Amino acid sequence: MLHESDPVHCDATRIGIRRAETADIPALLAIEERSFATDRMTERNFRYAIRKAKGVVLVAYRQVPNVQSMAIAYGVVGFHAGTPFARLTSFAVAPGNRGRGVGHRLLAELEKAAADHGCRGMRLEVRANNAAAIGLYTTAGYRRFAVYSDYYEDGMAALRLEKILVCDG
Ligand SMILES: CC(C)(COP(=O)(O)OP(=O)(O)OC[C@H]1O[C@@H](n2cnc3c(N)ncnc32)[C@H](O)[C@@H]1OP(=O)(O)O)[C@@H](O)C(=O)NCCC(=O)NCCS
Repeated sequence: MLHESDPVHCDATRIGIRRAETADIPALLAIEERSFATDRMTERNFRYAIRKAKGVVLVAYRQVPNVQSMAIAYGVVGFHAGTPFARLTSFAVAPGNRGRGVGHRLLAELEKAAADHGCRGMRLEVRANNAAAIGLYTTAGYRRFAVYSDYYEDGMAALRLEKILVCDG
């Protein structure tokens, strides 16, 4: 499990990854607003995911001495009884921080958290026209196993992707 005290360094710009707290919600909502035109997570959704849901919410943050660690990216993963697959339900990097490996690193930590929880794989849905996200997931080893037509609020189809997670133990 990740804690505030054991950040993971991402690249030369010193990115840490830690569990989200409710104090992160304003920053998460700002990322959400700048990342998605439809189907956004609400404050209530984030609060529930962080405090009550079975799963993990991680944030990436820039490590600057004496400055509060504001979230620049987040990922929400749910664990569900009756399935060995964890589900990545929301994932975004703030626009000014994209293309630097933050998404790739955060996804790897979410997968590790899911594997530590005992999940055998990760599944997710992605808009069929989201080239950046499909590129990220494909690079990370996800493969398409189904398509949902008319899945999003605006009628866009979703690709269903999955990855089998490797357990250390
Ligand atoms: C998708 C997203 C999370 C990627 O985050 P990121 O930090 O920019 O991604 P990374 O820098 O870690 O890139 C990792 C890989 O993803 C792929 N990728 C990233 N941006 C890409 C783009 N614009 N086009 C194509 N592939 C891209 C590449 O394969 C890249 O590896 P490379 O740099 O070795 O080529 C980010 O663009 C984002 O937040 N988008 C808006 C929200 C969103 O779509 N979330 C996903 C919902 S399912």
